[in-house]
Amino acid sequence: MESIVTKDAVVHFNSEVYEKLNNYIKTTNPSKIFILVDSNTHDYCLPSFMAELNNGDIKVEVMEIPDGEDHKTIDICTGVWEALSQYYADRKSLIINLGGGVVTDLGGFVASTYMRGISYINVPTSLLAMVDASVGGKTGVDLGTLKNIVGVISEGEMVLIDPSFLATLPRNHMVSGYAEMLKHGLIRDKDYWNTLTHLEDLDISHLNQLIYDSVVIKNKVVTEDPTEKGLRKILNFGHTLGHAIESYFLGIADKEPLLHGEAIAIGMILEAYISTKVCGLSLEEFESIKTGILKTFSKVEITNRDQEVIIDLLKYDKKNSHGTVKFVLLETIGQPKIDCLADNELIFEAFKYYNTYLNISSS
Ligand SMILES: NC(=O)c1ccc[n+]([C@@H]2O[C@H](COP(=O)([O-])OP(=O)(O)OC[C@H]3O[C@@H](n4cnc5c(N)ncnc54)[C@H](O)[C@@H]3O)[C@@H](O)[C@H]2O)c1
Ligand SMILES: [Zn+2]
Repeated sequence: MESIVTKDAVVHFNSEVYEKLNNYIKTTNPSKIFILVDSNTHDYCLPSFMAELNNGDIKVEVMEIPDGEDHKTIDICTGVWEALSQYYADRKSLIINLGGGVVTDLGGFVASTYMRGISYINVPTSLLAMVDASVGGKTGVDLGTLKNIVGVISEGEMVLIDPSFLATLPRNHMVSGYAEMLKHGLIRDKDYWNTLTHLEDLDISHLNQLIYDSVVIKNKVVTEDPTEKGLRKILNFGHTLGHAIESYFLGIADKEPLLHGEAIAIGMILEAYISTKVCGLSLEEFESIKTGILKTFSKVEITNRDQEVIIDLLKYDKKNSHGTVKFVLLETIGQPKIDCLADNELIFEAFKYYNTYLNISSS
């Protein structure tokens, strides 16, 4: 598979990745190599990665952080910066971030700020990190409940995508990453959407080429609009309502939290419904979106009371400006429209449709 050139880095795929990595190490001869993992990628991904790494006589140190979004914090960064300095990391050291989006976002931020920036390479091991976090250069951490609020844009040296890591990724995290792939189809490529929704299962052998295609789509969108002024907003399809649903389920004691992609899947159905009313998405395509998503994602109960709070949460959406909620909607599959407005009545109607269709009581 051909490597994909992004703004400042290169994304390599499959068996080639270790050859690229080892060549890079040989050519740049870093003073030391630091590998950042979380508790899961330490157990599931590090052994096979070490078996492929050819570090010659360069010393390798492994730094482990606890897994999960709760640990994507500045406190954890402080621990990693301290470990780097205790082990004498210098400007010529290399950090390799081996993990999901938490490890690549946090590790990218740590590397970009330690000594005002040292080299790093991302090796995403979750589907979400492969298809979404791998391009665009967004690094950073959360501040309390504010996600990704502290960070810098920096792409690192290269991204190495080896889908065989996905063999140990829990099913719910596979499904979560798949939601972002579906989104890439909906905003940019109807054929890609059709292929994805006709997959029999999320087996790695089926996903290989599709992961590549997703990275191509995201890279095209990001490259055409590096400063997030216009086109890049289309990546937000499903995310206006999806983020509010995600935050709501996180903050409420009697509900199981939803993974990011699970919330985005609901957001995409709701925003596709709104698209039929606001920008002419055909009922036929809406039907395909709804059934395509619900083939994989389970129904989630969202009562009338939940809906009110979720709609209220929209005002905190980072992408808003001057107090209006703006949606990315679809004119057709593959043809999005940015900066669309929808009133609360229509949003309630979309929720009502979702509940009625899935036979969920709203009260
Ligand atoms: N930088 C970007 O552009 C961008 C884009 C999308 C998401 N993100 C960020 O990514 C994060 C979400 O990413 P995520 O879903 O990968 O979360 P994550 O890093 O928490 O990984 C999910 C879970 O899977 C485990 N895991 C990862 N790879 C594994 C493997 N191969 N085998 C077994 N377990 C494995 C992790 O330990 C974790 O428990 C969020 O913080 C989000 O903000 C960033
Ligand atoms: Zn997302």
